Formats: sequence, C-alpha cells, structure tokens
Amino acid sequence: MRMKVALIPGDGIGPDIVAEAVKVMGAVGTKYGHKFDYSFYLAGGVAIDSVGMPLPESTLLGCQDSEAVLLGAVGGPKWDHLGGGQRPEKALLGLRSGLGLFCNLRPALLYEQLAEACPLKSELIAGGLDIMVVRELTGGIYFGERGRNDAGDSAYDTMAYATSEIDRIVRKAFDIASKRSKRLMSVDKANILETSRLWRSVVNTIAKEYPDVSVDHMYVDNAAMQLVRNPRQFDVIVTENMFGDILSDEASMITGSIGMLPSASLRSDNFGMYEPIHGSAPDIAGKDMANPIATILSVAMMLRHTFACEEEAAAIESAVGAVLDAGWRTGDIMSKGMRQIGTKEMGTLIAQKL
Ligand code: IPM
Ligand code: MG
Repeated sequence: MRMKVALIPGDGIGPDIVAEAVKVMGAVGTKYGHKFDYSFYLAGGVAIDSVGMPLPESTLLGCQDSEAVLLGAVGGPKWDHLGGGQRPEKALLGLRSGLGLFCNLRPALLYEQLAEACPLKSELIAGGLDIMVVRELTGGIYFGERGRNDAGDSAYDTMAYATSEIDRIVRKAFDIASKRSKRLMSVDKANILETSRLWRSVVNTIAKEYPDVSVDHMYVDNAAMQLVRNPRQFDVIVTENMFGDILSDEASMITGSIGMLPSASLRSDNFGMYEPIHGSAPDIAGKDMANPIATILSVAMMLRHTFACEEEAAAIESAVGAVLDAGWRTGDIMSKGMRQIGTKEMGTLIAQKL
C-alpha cells in the first residue's frame, strides 16, 4: 500500500522525535510491504522564523493533499512575546479548523512497566488505567468571538456550540465506547452553561440509538476531582474543547508518562493528524534526550485510523512494549535498575524489534 504522509517536525524536540517515527515507519514499510511518500512542511516557530507566519498556506495545502499528517510539536520561549494571532500555537488551531479535525482522541494508558511513575497510590491503579478522552476540537471557546473594549480594560471570549457540532463528536464517542467497555462519561458544566445544557440533551438523544452503551453525565469540576480520586471509574470520556484540553492533561499525568502518550485528530473520512500529547521541550531540543515513544505510538494510531492497518499498528505497540520489557528507558521514564538511552537509540531499538 502507498501512504501519502505530511510531516511537520515543528519546534524544539519536534525534529528529534519525528526522525525516530520515520525510522519506525521505514521498518513497518519493509516488514509489511508499504511505501510511505513523505513531504515535509513548516509550522509553528520555525515557520515564523523562515516565512513570517505560524501556518503558511503551503503547509495547509500540502496537508490537504496528503492522507495523514504527523506533527512533532510547536512553540517555545523564543516566540512567547508574540501576540495571540502570531504565536506558534496558532498553527495548531489553524490546522485543526482548516482540516476540519473535530474529533480528538487522547488515550491515557498506564504502561505496566512504568507503573511506578504513576503519582497515585498503587491501590488506585491496581489492574491498570486505560482511559480514552474524546475531545471536541474545532468549536467552543477556542473558536468563538473574542476581543477587548476600546479602553482595553475589559475582555471577552465566547463559547458557542451548534447541535450538529455536538452530534458528530458524541456519535464518535458512542462508537468508540461500544467497541470498548460500553461505558461513556459525558463531561459538561450544565449547572451553569447553556452550551452544556444543549450538549447534555444531544447526548441523551443519541443515547437512545446505543442501548448497549451506558451513559453518565458529570460536571467538569467533579470530573477533575474524580480522575485523581478514582480514575478506574472512567473508560471513555467525551467533552467539549476546553474541558477536554484540561482533563486530557490531567488524565495523561496520572499515567505518569506524558512522554508516552499519542493522539489522533480526526474528521468523518479517514484523514487524520497525529501527534504526541507533550510539548516541544526546548530545553532538551537537539540533545538526543527526548522520548520518541509518544510520536512512534502516534504512527500506530495513524496506521489504525487512517490506513486501517490494525496488524501494523499492533506490531508497533508490541515493539514498544518489548523494548520497555527489556529495560530500555529514556531519561523521562528512567527508574532504578533500568538502562538509560537517548532518543535515537530508542527509535532504533523499536524499529529493530519490528
Ligand atoms: C493541546 C494544547 C493546545 C490546545 C495549545 C498548544 C493550543 O494545549 O493540544 O492540548 O490548547 O489545544
Ligand atoms: Mg492542552
């Protein structure tokens, strides 16, 4: 199979980790007879430095012309002084909305081999943690009208949702829940927000079409608390854009290994953008220190969701498991008795396991 993939290494450790993901794709290609056609594009701080804007038109067009996008990370202190519309992060928002990627999947999976990195008491995580956060990604307060008054001493951001926007993300979440443990938790703030009351009613309407999935609703403040009190009560969580941003960071941290977690941003066809959950870690950029596993696991998500290559995806995931079993660790997941290696060696070992 030929697979047309746009690569956006971005800033900081982005180029380091994307290079290792490409290594692993090479190994998948050799083993299963696939051919990856790569094109590299600029986004984020590097794009600001070289062409003066975070998301050049050519990047968006190039992504639109591909079947999938693999992104490293964007941003860094070098560009922190820039105003809202010119920051590297603007590239991410532009890609999400420009490509119509309304569905963000963020699995928070605790690797048994790394259980001691989990900051929660061991009895809270006995039996493991496997939560899928389904975050709405192209609506809500991220994309609503915002501004200031003339004096600049008053500001506003707007949260708005149309039924159709809620409907399509909630359906995705039900589909995912029906293939997992058949439990769905919808998170909102329906005691305060009108968008949340609409959200809740759409969830309850769609629930009738999925009689085998049990649905609950939880307020976002309570959900934030319950995630650390008793995380195993959750399986699939569906929520709006900003709540999902916050809860997915929290969920990833309780696994203790933010350097391990991939993500997928999808729309209704097979197209998707895949990226690690972590940021650009400029302090360790180019030092062969970053953990490439989240990006490598993002390739597995790409093979699964865009190319329907389940066997290849599972092979990458088990190669990662095997390298961890053998005791190899990058600095961020290092613990006593394990063997510390750099970014490149980790990529090489995983590719070799394949
Ligand atoms: C994320 C990030 C982004 C977001 C930022 C960098 C724009 O925090 O992907 O979670 O808020 O969505
Ligand atoms: Mg975030």
